[in-house]
Amino acid sequence: ENHFQEQSPLHNKTFLITAGPTYEPIDPVRFIGNHSSGKMGMQIAKAALHLGAKVKLVLGPSAEFYEHTNLEILKVQTAQQMLDACLSIFNQVDVAIATAAVSDYRPAQVVDQKIKKKDETLTLELIKNPDILKTLGAKKTNQLLVGFALETQNEEENAIQKLSNKNLDFIVLNSMNNDGAGFQHNTNKITILADNYKKEFDLKTKSEVASDILTEILQRIA
Ligand code: CTP
Ligand code: CA
Repeated sequence: ENHFQEQSPLHNKTFLITAGPTYEPIDPVRFIGNHSSGKMGMQIAKAALHLGAKVKLVLGPSAEFYEHTNLEILKVQTAQQMLDACLSIFNQVDVAIATAAVSDYRPAQVVDQKIKKKDETLTLELIKNPDILKTLGAKKTNQLLVGFALETQNEEENAIQKLSNKNLDFIVLNSMNNDGAGFQHNTNKITILADNYKKEFDLKTKSEVASDILTEILQRIA
């Protein structure tokens, strides 16, 4: 290893990052998904790589792509596949960050033929998907665990509930109450919350938000 790498603050650290949506199949041609772009997770991956970390990016269906010696992208479709990929590497990582917009439910049955148009109404039965972040929180040993929360009401209260319920080290609250923040935008307005800790940030680009999150992580693993 060269001198530069040894001086990089994260040169001996491995990150697990989940990103993008999940697609939950209904039949061979249809799925339940969402508008998550995977941009936030990719920006965090780039910020971590820039500081010398190794990154394993578990990425749902997304147009995001990047090549780097220290970046491994594990592509998945469903929440169950995302969970399996995370579990297969969790014990190798120092930091895990969940930015993925995981579908909370999936169709109870995946039918193997394309569903034909018939009655005036169609009811799909959905069942709950595994909570990936909560599963990691229950298995956590020395990993620093970071989650995201997007709320439309009682923002901070709900985020703090997720912080404790999922056994996180901190949670990034993504504020909806702002034009230009959230899905399909390049900007976010965040608040970082931990036990007896709150830090509010201005509306920033996703790349700047990623740097702020990395700064928070560096302070906590120093
Ligand atoms: N998350 C996850 N697996 C799930 C659902 C959520 O890993 N099945 C993660 C997200 O990546 C995010 C955090 O948990 O980091 C919070 O996601 P969010 O959708 O805000 O919370 P939920 O626990 O799903 O609760 P709800 O959607 O009802 O607010
Ligand atoms: Ca959810």
